Amino acid sequence: MPDAGAGAMFSFLPPEWLVAIDSTSSEIKRRYLEGGDGPNGLVVAAERQTAGRGRMGRSWVSQPGAGLFFSFLLRPDGLTLQQLGTLPMACALGVADFLAARGVECQCKWPNDVLAGAGKICGILSETVANSAGRVLVVGMGVNLNPDPRVGQAIEQAAVALGDFTEERYDPREVLPDVLNALAARIRVWLAEGFDGIRRDFVARLWGMEQPVRVRTPKGTEEGQIAGLGSDGELLLRRADGTSVAVHSVAALEPV
Ligand code: BTN
Repeated sequence: MPDAGAGAMFSFLPPEWLVAIDSTSSEIKRRYLEGGDGPNGLVVAAERQTAGRGRMGRSWVSQPGAGLFFSFLLRPDGLTLQQLGTLPMACALGVADFLAARGVECQCKWPNDVLAGAGKICGILSETVANSAGRVLVVGMGVNLNPDPRVGQAIEQAAVALGDFTEERYDPREVLPDVLNALAARIRVWLAEGFDGIRRDFVARLWGMEQPVRVRTPKGTEEGQIAGLGSDGELLLRRADGTSVAVHSVAALEPV
């Protein structure tokens, strides 16, 4: 269990805005690798990314004005790799809180997508990077703010934006402080209480709960109904024959 005081101490630094960069996550990683410049809570955001990266080697289309593209650095002092694996779930909940405050109810697709209506509204890429000073976590987040037809094509799945629901337009620079506040609140609980502190809320928003799904994992394909999440954040499936299986990592998760 993490140190109970750790959560209360976490806060983001004032975000640094760039007009254009290849990838905000690559930028933080470079800085950390080159000079160890990695203060806890460092936030780098960009109006445009020329080589935005998604999970599984995919790209993340990052057109100016369409979305919020930012990354942050977290020093995971005292946390194990297994514990670190659940940080994206705290981030997904933070984004869901931000969207709920604007009247948009979301589902969290295990392990780290945020869905609204029929599409994906936010993607999260969590990476570790190590130099001689130690290992840090770089979390990159893309939140679709204003509809842009290129986004869905690029991520090969339906995409939606906040503006699809509210019919307003959003300025990423104005939105970022609210998103960071919502994230920080969830991350503090996660740091103080571990995954246990966010598990119930994540399950309440869990996409596919009690629904039949197919999961492609590094070890093969599993089918079953989603039964919830285990204490380490693993996805629990109930197979048709009544047995259960815990899934720890996933290449694809889809309805059957
Ligand atoms: C995914 O769903 O595949 C994760 C997408 C993460 C995209 C964000 S945008 C800001 C940050 N910089 C990147 O290059 N990727 C992340």
